[in-house]
Amino acid sequence: MTLDHARRLDAADPLASFRTRFLLPEGLTYLDGNSLGPLTISGRDALAAATERWSRRLIGGWNEDWIAMASRVAARLAPLLGALEEEVLIGSDTSTNLFRLAHAAAEIAPDRTDIVTDDLNFPSDRYVLEGIAKGLGRRVQVVRSTDGIHADEGAIMGEITDRTSFVCLSMVAYRTGYLYDVPTITDHAHRHGALVLWDLSHAAGVVPIHLDAWKVDLAVGCTYKYLNGGPGAPAYLYVRRDLQGRLRNPVQGWFGHADPFSMVEDYAPSPGVRRFSSGTPPILSLAPVDGGVQPTVEAGVARVREKSVALTIAFVEEVERILVSLGFSIQSPCDPARRGSHVSLGHPYALAVSRCLVAERAVVPDFRPPNVLRFGFAPLYNRFEDMVRAIEQTAEVVRTGAYEPYLAARPFVP
Ligand SMILES: Cc1ncc(COP(=O)(O)O)c(C=O)c1O
Repeated sequence: MTLDHARRLDAADPLASFRTRFLLPEGLTYLDGNSLGPLTISGRDALAAATERWSRRLIGGWNEDWIAMASRVAARLAPLLGALEEEVLIGSDTSTNLFRLAHAAAEIAPDRTDIVTDDLNFPSDRYVLEGIAKGLGRRVQVVRSTDGIHADEGAIMGEITDRTSFVCLSMVAYRTGYLYDVPTITDHAHRHGALVLWDLSHAAGVVPIHLDAWKVDLAVGCTYKYLNGGPGAPAYLYVRRDLQGRLRNPVQGWFGHADPFSMVEDYAPSPGVRRFSSGTPPILSLAPVDGGVQPTVEAGVARVREKSVALTIAFVEEVERILVSLGFSIQSPCDPARRGSHVSLGHPYALAVSRCLVAERAVVPDFRPPNVLRFGFAPLYNRFEDMVRAIEQTAEVVRTGAYEPYLAARPFVP
């Protein structure tokens, strides 16, 4: 695709105007929104309003706005997850939320010994599961991908038995972008009496999600990726309404109490999803999430997904046309229906190539060890022009050997 062709596609893009809602440095081709989304204007304003309130109203800020803030953000987020407002809670990080829900799921089925996951799941999720298994005397069964790109969903379902306590998978695999068939796996787990816990971190905001319609039990996810909440922004968790009263938060704190400010001696959990809170909500981190998700809510995930698919299809075609002969391999599913919004490329010098792209070419992908470059497409601000620039610059960096001075580089974030 030529730059002119890309610009024509961008000019005809019905989502094009959303780019102006993001604060992006001039001239930067940012393809790392799957790790950290940019600041939105609405997010910046929400943060400024929170700090202004703090300076002016001090403790009065809690009653004026802050106590209600977490529920307000949950209400905004819920439709993006296909959930009800009263099924979503925001606060903590994804790993801790996963711990809370996974522990609760294991605890209600003491006779079920197995937790099923796969090796495409995010490492932190697997560490959390291992920790729970150790603490509660369960075992984690890890289904291995045969090609390292896609999950064999038949094999995963084959591991689910009447001994399975719950299944924990990422809806979109962080390393390869593989998009799981959530309803089929969920339904299969339920037939064996097991629960499901989906990590939505790489899906929310770019892939349609229908947690209630799919009868998902539990879910967690980050807000700092495609939801543009900001570095370390609080994560969310979802508990289906009819399950809430049966599950116990292993981190029983006052914000999960039915009446937090009563300061009574005994713990009585809130009847709803708020029982999964523990402590004081991080207001200054929460404020930009409210603004960050606004553009996605306005655009609608169906339209975002349509453009995401078009971008990744065009990118994969260009990779095949230009980058494969330069030593790159596609480490993501070929079928766009089974792919999220990022595409991973293997290259023997992936780290050096990514460091060179960032330092010298104003192109930002990210790197995952040992040799994968990830290109994330966030349709509300990424254009076809960005996709073409990324291909051109990546090709040039390899053709000219510009990456060579970076061969001794060590990985850093991202
Ligand atoms: C799929 C997935 N799950 C979990 C996490 C961990 O999130 P947190 O650092 O908020 O615990 C990440 C972080 O990037 C992730 O990509």
